[in-house]
Amino acid sequence: MGIVGQQPVSERLVDALKRLEYRGYDSAGVATIDGGALDRRRAEGKIVNLEARLREQPLAGAIGIGHTRWATHGAPTERNAHPHFTDGVAVVHNGIIENFAELKDELSEAGAEFESETDTEAVAQLLARFRRDGFGRREAMFATLRRLKGAYALAVLYEDDPFTIMAARNGPPLAIGHGEGEMFLGSDAIALAPFTNEITYLVDGDWAIIDKTGAQIFDIDGNVAARPREVFANVAFPVDKGNHRHFMEKEIYEQPEVISHALSHYINFVDHRVLPVSDAIDFAKVPSLAISACGTAYLAGLIGKYWFERYARLPVEIDVASEFRYREIPLSPQSAALFISQSGETADTLASLRYCKEHGLKIGAVVNTRESTIARESDAVFPILAGPEIGVASTKAFTCQLAVLAALAVAAGRARGTVSEQEEQALVRSLAEMPRLMGQVLNSIQPKIEFLSRELSKCRDVLYLGRGTSFPLAMEGALKLKEISYIHAEGYAAGELKHGPIALIDENMPVIVIAPHDRFFDKTVSNMQEVAARGGRIILITDGKGAAASKLDTMHTIVLPNVDEIIAPMIFSLPVQLLAYHTAVFMGTDVDQPRNLAKSVTVE
Ligand code: G6P
Repeated sequence: MGIVGQQPVSERLVDALKRLEYRGYDSAGVATIDGGALDRRRAEGKIVNLEARLREQPLAGAIGIGHTRWATHGAPTERNAHPHFTDGVAVVHNGIIENFAELKDELSEAGAEFESETDTEAVAQLLARFRRDGFGRREAMFATLRRLKGAYALAVLYEDDPFTIMAARNGPPLAIGHGEGEMFLGSDAIALAPFTNEITYLVDGDWAIIDKTGAQIFDIDGNVAARPREVFANVAFPVDKGNHRHFMEKEIYEQPEVISHALSHYINFVDHRVLPVSDAIDFAKVPSLAISACGTAYLAGLIGKYWFERYARLPVEIDVASEFRYREIPLSPQSAALFISQSGETADTLASLRYCKEHGLKIGAVVNTRESTIARESDAVFPILAGPEIGVASTKAFTCQLAVLAALAVAAGRARGTVSEQEEQALVRSLAEMPRLMGQVLNSIQPKIEFLSRELSKCRDVLYLGRGTSFPLAMEGALKLKEISYIHAEGYAAGELKHGPIALIDENMPVIVIAPHDRFFDKTVSNMQEVAARGGRIILITDGKGAAASKLDTMHTIVLPNVDEIIAPMIFSLPVQLLAYHTAVFMGTDVDQPRNLAKSVTVE
C-alpha cells in the first residue's frame, strides 16, 4: 500500500493493510516521512501487533507505504518485515528478486551492510548505492529496475522527497488509485476501495512516479506509457462476517446464492438451455483442451476434465501450473487452454497461460476477479461470480468454478454434437436444481458434521477415497482438512487403495469415502470392504440410494439427497468443506488465515 495524502496516513495505511489480510501474511509494517525524516514501525504476526506498536509510538506524516509480508527469503521476524530502509530509501516489495544473492555479493563487496535476510533489502541497497553515486531519484529507480531479475511489485520512498512514491511492477499486481488531491497505490482494488474506485493498473515492466496530483507512468524502456484509468463500480468488501464465526463458514453458507448467481450467466433457468459462450473459443473445432491451475482451482479443473471428456468428447491435458509451465508440453495451436484461478493472479498459472499463448492457443480464464491479470491476458473470460472470497481456504470459489466448468462442458458438448438437445435440457435442469439442493443440505447436516468433526480432531491422519469425479473431490477434502486443521490427510482414487495406502489402515485411521450412488458405487463399496476387513473406520458420505444399498458396517454415514451425477461434486463438496471447517474449529486453529498459507500466491 502507498498513500500520498494531505493528512497523516499511517492509520489509513493500516486499515488498507487489514483489507489485504485475507491474502495471508506473517508480519506487517508501515513507513512514513515526517519533518523530512523517514520512520517506520514493524511487527511480527498479525496487524493488531502493528497497531499496538503504533499506539505506543505513533507515526505522523502525510506520505507513507505499508506492507503485509508472506515470508519467502528469511523467517517472519520483525527484522525481515518490510519496509526495508537503507540510507534514506524505504522499500516494500511483493514477489521474489531471483538474482538477489548475486546483487547482495556485489553490494557487500562494495561495503554494503545488510540488516535482514530478505531479497527485498537488495533493492533498497541498490537504490541507495545509485543515489550515493550521484544518480537522481528517478534515474536511481530506473537503473535499479534494470538490474532486477524476478518478480516484483515495489513501492519506494526517498527521505529527501516527502511528496513522491515510486512504484514498479513486474509480475505481482499493482494498482494506482486516483483520489481528490491524494493518490494511492495498492495490490488490488479491494485495498483501494475505501479511498477511490478510479484505478489504473500497471502492466508488467511499468514503473511510476506518484504525487498527490497524479501519476506519471513509464514502460520498461523509460518511455512515457499511457495506461487507462478505469472506474470500478462495485468493489465491495464484506468486512462483516454476519452471524458467522469465520469468513470460511459464511462463504460455505453463501454457496446456494452465489452458485445461483453464477449459473444465471451460463444457463437459462426457464427453457433449460445453455447460454451462448464466448465467440473467442470455438469448442466445436478445437481438437483438445489444456487446463492448468493451482491448489483447489486445480482440483476443480480435474473434475472439469471428467466432464469435458465425457460430455464433449474433448481430450483434456491437465496439470498443476508449476509443472505445466516447465513441461514443454507439445500443444497444437488449434487447441484452446483454460486457466482456473480465484484470484486471477497466481504466478504459476499466469506463466502457464503465457506459455500457451506463445504456442498460439486460444485462452480462456475461469476467474473470480475480472480485473485480474489472468482475465486481462485471456481471449475469453468466464467469470465465476462468487463475490470476494476472504477465507484463505477456498470454498464457494471452488463450487462456482465447478458450476461454470459443468455449464461450459455441456455447451461444448452441444457445439460438438455429442450432447443432444434433450440431454442438454436434462443436464441444465439438474444444474438449475443445485442451489435449492445445496440449501437443503446446509440446513440439515450441521449436527452430524459437528459430531464427526469432534472425532476427526483427535486423529493424526485421515484418508479420503472416491472414484470418478469423487476422486478429485477426495483430494480436495484432504487438502481442505490439512490446510486448516493441520491434520495429515490424503485423497486417493478408491481403486488405488490396494496399491499402497491400504498399508496404513488400522483402527486409528478414519477413511472418509465419498460415494454417491452412481455408476461406480458398487466398485467403491468393494474398496470399503477392503478397509472394513482391516479394521479401518469408515465414514461414508453418500446419498439415500447409496445408504440403502451399501449394507456395510460403517462407523458413520452422512446421507445426502439423491442427486443427478453432474451436480454430485458440488453437493458432496458441502459435507467435505464443513467437516474440515468444524474439525479446525475444534482444533482451535486460525481458520480464515491458516499458518504459512497465502490466498494470493504471486511468487513461483
Ligand atoms: C493458494 C490458496 C488456495 C488456492 C490456490 C490457487 O494456495 O490458498 O486456496 O486454491 O492458491 O489460487 P487461485 O487464486 O489461483 O485460485
